[in-house]
Amino acid sequence: MHKKRVFSGVQPTGNLHLGNYLGAIKNFVNLQNKFECVYCIVDLHAITNRQDPKELKSNILETVASFIASGLNPEKNIIFNQASVSAHSELAWVFNCVARIGWMNRMTQFKEKAGANKENASVGLMVYPNLMAADILIYKATHVPVGEDQKQHLELTRDIAKKFNNDFNCENYFPIVEPLIPKEISRVMSLRDGKKKMSKSEESDQSRINLKDDKDLIDQKIKKAKTDNDLIPSEIIGLKNRPEATNLISIYASLNDLSIEKVLKEFKGKNFSTFKSKLSESVVEKISPVGNEINKLLKDQSYLNKILEKGSKKADLIAKNNLKEIYDIIGLRKFS
Ligand code: TRP
Repeated sequence: MHKKRVFSGVQPTGNLHLGNYLGAIKNFVNLQNKFECVYCIVDLHAITNRQDPKELKSNILETVASFIASGLNPEKNIIFNQASVSAHSELAWVFNCVARIGWMNRMTQFKEKAGANKENASVGLMVYPNLMAADILIYKATHVPVGEDQKQHLELTRDIAKKFNNDFNCENYFPIVEPLIPKEISRVMSLRDGKKKMSKSEESDQSRINLKDDKDLIDQKIKKAKTDNDLIPSEIIGLKNRPEATNLISIYASLNDLSIEKVLKEFKGKNFSTFKSKLSESVVEKISPVGNEINKLLKDQSYLNKILEKGSKKADLIAKNNLKEIYDIIGLRKFS
């Protein structure tokens, strides 16, 4: 059987928000005491879209700072950037040859990101899921904490692992990964539109809480967040077709480690203005210290670089070793 190992990746977008925190990083922190964890800043995924080189470099460091500020321990976990470990790209090429074009064509994230002009999307964007599968499987990771939107990519990772194990007659070589999706909040939605994901690319800054927002800005954004005119229901069913209400309640639940049921019990019959002031308090209490710590850490870039350098060395050791095995299974010779 495979040793339990957690792997996840975050794109270095800079200016991480509540969605990144609740959907991913908070989960990473909880897992660090239970598993061996490998957390990767996926800079090679970022360049599937055009990036400003200077900004990309600084966003990579800001993402490390956000990890550490959120409570990830760089001694306990392997924290590194993808470009430092070349086996990711090498295995991605192998998977380009394992995965089928039909599988790629089914990926909804590609369709969304490529938009109307599919012909003009980068080839990298199309094979993005193969690189993601390589990220995970180069470490033979067994568990992957992600948001709901990445579920399809993990299914593809499972399909690739199965096809490889089958094609090369090496049953059980790659593990069949399990997604770990947060229960109370599978995705954090925009504060302006409960049907859209909270995102850095959304034009209005009012749609998201950034980890570096100060108290006044957090209060103001939550006050203005879209809701409906109904009261808070006593049962989950009362949240049906109320995406904005659901989102705010889920954020509160997730921040305070409560179930949705518990939150509804506490606030049933109340209006949203009462609830919003409580929500603001929670967001400020949990997020402001993280934001302050990010700002502090960003002043010591050599410390952040050192974390990446150390993490990359550790990751490279595992990845190189596994790549050797994989090439040998395929029948490739590697002399360097
Ligand atoms: N595609 C993921 C996202 O956008 C990021 C990612 C890249 C990832 N490689 C990964 C997540 C491997 C988990 C495991 O959120």
